[in-house]
Amino acid sequence: MNILEFCHIEKVYGARENQVRALHDINLRIKEGEFAAIVGTSGSGKSTLLNLAGGLDTPTKGRILVKGREIGSLTRKELTIFRRRNIGFVFQNYSLMPVLNVYDNVALPVTFDRGRQVNHKYIEELLKELGIWEKRRKYPGELSGGQQQRVAIARALANRPAILLADEPTGNLDSATTIEVIGLLKASCRKYSQTILMVTHNEAIAQTCDRIIRIEDGQVLKRRTGNVRPESPAEEGGDRVC
Ligand SMILES: Nc1ncnc2c1ncn2[C@@H]1O[C@H](COP(=O)(O)OP(=O)(O)O)[C@@H](O)[C@H]1O
Ligand SMILES: [Mg+2]
Repeated sequence: MNILEFCHIEKVYGARENQVRALHDINLRIKEGEFAAIVGTSGSGKSTLLNLAGGLDTPTKGRILVKGREIGSLTRKELTIFRRRNIGFVFQNYSLMPVLNVYDNVALPVTFDRGRQVNHKYIEELLKELGIWEKRRKYPGELSGGQQQRVAIARALANRPAILLADEPTGNLDSATTIEVIGLLKASCRKYSQTILMVTHNEAIAQTCDRIIRIEDGQVLKRRTGNVRPESPAEEGGDRVC
């Protein structure tokens, strides 16, 4: 099953002479349970793609389906709830709340959701899994970069999202910590049957993922026996929904 589908997605920023076409006719399907890496040079449109997938921004043209629902058809309120329940985000700069301790940072997305109770057992399990249970009463400023990113990952997983979107999650980490964090993401992907879409600059890490999506000048490329050419929708399983 495809958990995420981009159909003829176009994204243009700005107006008139300041226009930047960040994405052009993106057709992409991500299968449930896939751990996909997005690679490409700086400015190629990777973050734009991820932001659109998570409904943080809207496409200029085209449709995005998450779990079969077109997110562009949701009201703002519906989108906020849908996003909170289905999508977790991890960014390069961790984006933790400095005034909250580790535990409260992780529980925060759940407390936002008035329909849900904080599942303390699950949060404990997550923190243990990520090796930060002992740090639960510490504040972000007291932690190393790798520890802060683990907290950010735990926070992204707190609502048990079906999809995890990570934008260069290891961009600020040393290579040993990078390997650890990627290992944790993979374990989580398997354990909680998640789909992960991760932007990375690191080709070696991308090679360890289930799939590599290459973006160049706002288009998806497909590399085959040395040939690089735009990916056609037919290769991605037909054009049924687009
Ligand atoms: N908010 C924005 N306003 C105007 N242009 C933007 C904005 N965000 C990104 N861009 C432009 O869109 C293109 C793609 O950017 P981005 O998706 O951030 O690329 P990447 O993440 O691959 O580095 C770049 O040319 C960038 O300058
Ligand atoms: Mg980026």
